[in-house]
Amino acid sequence: MSAHPLLESTSVGDLRRYLDTVGTVFRVFDRQDSGCVSYGVAVDAERWFVKTSTTPPARRALGRAVTFHAAVRHPVIIGLRARFVARAEPVLVYPWVDGVLLHHATVDRGLPRRDPASAWSRFRRLPVTQVEAAMDAIFDAHLAVDRAGFVASDLYDGCFLYDFKRRLMRLLDFDEFRPGPFVATEPPCGSSRFMAPEEVLGGTFDRRTTVFTLGRAARLLLDPATTRRPGGGPLASSRSCTGRPGPTRPTGTPTSATSSRPGAPPRREPGVGRASARMGA
Ligand SMILES: Nc1ncnc2c1ncn2[C@@H]1O[C@H](COP(=O)(O)OP(=O)(O)OP(=O)(O)O)[C@@H](O)[C@H]1O
Ligand SMILES: [Mg+2]
Repeated sequence: MSAHPLLESTSVGDLRRYLDTVGTVFRVFDRQDSGCVSYGVAVDAERWFVKTSTTPPARRALGRAVTFHAAVRHPVIIGLRARFVARAEPVLVYPWVDGVLLHHATVDRGLPRRDPASAWSRFRRLPVTQVEAAMDAIFDAHLAVDRAGFVASDLYDGCFLYDFKRRLMRLLDFDEFRPGPFVATEPPCGSSRFMAPEEVLGGTFDRRTTVFTLGRAARLLLDPATTRRPGGGPLASSRSCTGRPGPTRPTGTPTSATSSRPGAPPRREPGVGRASARMGA
């Protein structure tokens, strides 16, 4: 029997050419903030999510993902199945999982959260028992994360992949999770809507900041009515990431979250108070 082209490779040349040779590329994610490029690839009857780096920070992020997945296994966490190298860049292979991302915060943003047709809005309209079951899945996965000594970073609704038909929540993109506690040496990567104050202010990421972020997720996903902060301003957030060398959002792209370049604090949207941006409200 011949070796599996994704699960048993060690080194290939140009990744895209290789994937086109061994299967059919049906999705390309090449406009992410992270500096990674990913592909949905069908090989025979199976589908895979194949992710590689294009920048040094992205390469480091994929190294962290390898460390994370070696330490943490959980049915809700989409686990790493294999890795190989393409022209010296790491390539990570995950199973393709059906579902809808609750929010696309990166370049191809899709619908704003508050659009009634967005996945975010559809999710928040589900019966509360279904939302609670999804939150339970997220919490349970993070008990496994905590047991392995890791803490969350860059955890937000862009990591929540929900299958509305099967009512299943799965989690993806653990590239920024690290063994905790740790102090970030780069500007935080993530959505300020979900961040603990320490993350924005250069403090320590630990299990408490993970709990804070999970609390924000629960509060945002379980409260269908709230679209405004108690203080008045609209819910808004910023998202930053370190993988790309410059601004990633084309001018004029409608957005409910913004990205910032390395070295800059997360950007705020016009009309959003400093505290709300910092606190992720
Ligand atoms: N296993 C998977 N199955 C199906 N789709 C996936 C899978 N993993 C990721 N995706 C999709 O691919 C997109 C990009 O994945 P991911 O978030 O890991 O990339 P990234 O380069 O780290 O992006 P970001 O800049 O948002 O951090 C996700 O938003 C999701 O829509
Ligand atoms: Mg990422």
